Amino acid sequence: MSQAAFTYSLAGRQINRLGYGTMQLAGPGVFGPHADEARCIQVLRDAVELGVRHIDTSDFYGPHVTNLLIKKALHPYVSDLCLVTKIGAKRDRQGNWLPAFSEDELTQAVEDNLRHLGLDVLEVVNLRSMIDVHQPAEGSLEAALQSLVKLQARGLIRHIGLSNVTAQQIADAQQITPIACVQNLYNLANRQDDALIDQLAAQGIPYVPFFPLGGFSPLQSAELNEVAQSLSAPPLQVALAWLLQRAPNIMLIPGTSSPQHLRENIASAQLTLPAEALETLNRMGESRL
Ligand SMILES: NC(=O)c1ccc[n+]([C@@H]2O[C@H](COP(=O)([O-])OP(=O)(O)OC[C@H]3O[C@@H](n4cnc5c(N)ncnc54)[C@H](OP(=O)(O)O)[C@@H]3O)[C@@H](O)[C@H]2O)c1
Repeated sequence: MSQAAFTYSLAGRQINRLGYGTMQLAGPGVFGPHADEARCIQVLRDAVELGVRHIDTSDFYGPHVTNLLIKKALHPYVSDLCLVTKIGAKRDRQGNWLPAFSEDELTQAVEDNLRHLGLDVLEVVNLRSMIDVHQPAEGSLEAALQSLVKLQARGLIRHIGLSNVTAQQIADAQQITPIACVQNLYNLANRQDDALIDQLAAQGIPYVPFFPLGGFSPLQSAELNEVAQSLSAPPLQVALAWLLQRAPNIMLIPGTSSPQHLRENIASAQLTLPAEALETLNRMGESRL
């Protein structure tokens, strides 16, 4: 891959496609603090040191845990860091994920994110659809988007993105405001968004797969292991390299609380998959659809 292929335009600037997602830095069930705060801080600092400039977070991780860790580890931020947060959900005392889509809740969420991250303005805020918490589901996001546009007009948000959404919801949203990025579930084994990725690429919009490694149950497959063995690379590094080669607008935010895994994940940008490996991995996704 050429050097240019390592970056993509997000929020108006070229950013390393290898980013980092903070969800693994909260406690079990993404609830409460992680058992090893010092290691979490190390991971965040290492990520930036290794060139990560796109960090995905949310105040509903913990809640507040990962945003406060980011501030503790990285504030004052390097000037070209792009922190992307998401709103639209809240946690109850048992850790359940509930929708938080009213104007008051969205405003509160933006103010909380600003305070917890130590920022005056949020670079990118993704509106996370909660119509169905587990998968994109049709339904209007208009009222919530209008609330975000108002917060943008107040200077609290620079760019608006979407998460857990359908192609129709993206098209409808674009009638209201430009959409900076889309964050949906996608990985080697979950390829429902194949057509959407290509549509967004044609518009120059970043597609940010969440659970790029399979999430809470990381990908396990004989085919992936075989390809990884043939390339002498760790299997999950191969899974990330496949995403990078899948489309130029895919920007990665793999999550880990391990400095070693962080390094493996970032090194996926150096791994070029030969045609034969790509064919095997492509077939792996097709057989699961
Ligand atoms: N918009 C949404 O609704 C939504 C939903 C979920 C996630 N997200 C975002 O997407 C990001 C990524 O998702 P995720 O963190 O849940 O899942 P993920 O990146 O698919 O996978 C994380 C899992 O893989 C393991 N792992 C990471 N690198 C590894 C490596 N090199 N070798 C072996 N195991 C490895 C991690 O364990 P270790 O800690 O042991 O490495 C963890 O168990 C999140 O951090 C969050 O920012 C967004």
